[in-house]
Amino acid sequence: MSDETDFQTVGPAHEIAEDRGRGYQVNGRRIAVIRHGGDLFALDEMCTHADASLAFGPVQEGRVMCPWHYAEFDLQTGEACTGPACEGVNTYPVRERDGNIEVAVPKQRSD
Ligand code: FES
Repeated sequence: MSDETDFQTVGPAHEIAEDRGRGYQVNGRRIAVIRHGGDLFALDEMCTHADASLAFGPVQEGRVMCPWHYAEFDLQTGEACTGPACEGVNTYPVRERDGNIEVAVPKQRSD
């Protein structure tokens, strides 16, 4: 199957402190995992405006801010809440299991 969404371990849970993020490569995609309010969120790492990494953006009130031009994205939905980004990012299921972070990212189709 080309669209499996099995969870994959990306790293130890202690790697990400509250209101911090980290980038991972999963199934050929760059994913940012961010901890906020004690929960983990996974979304596309690259900002839809000009490809800055959202893994390094400030986090507050349920949003991550792009470090380059300050567009804000909703951590739960990936929606672009403020410009200059017009397009949102994809979000992915993420969980903490046995001290590790696991993310479910569909495999990219090869056709
Ligand atoms: S690169 Fe993210 S707002 Fe411009």
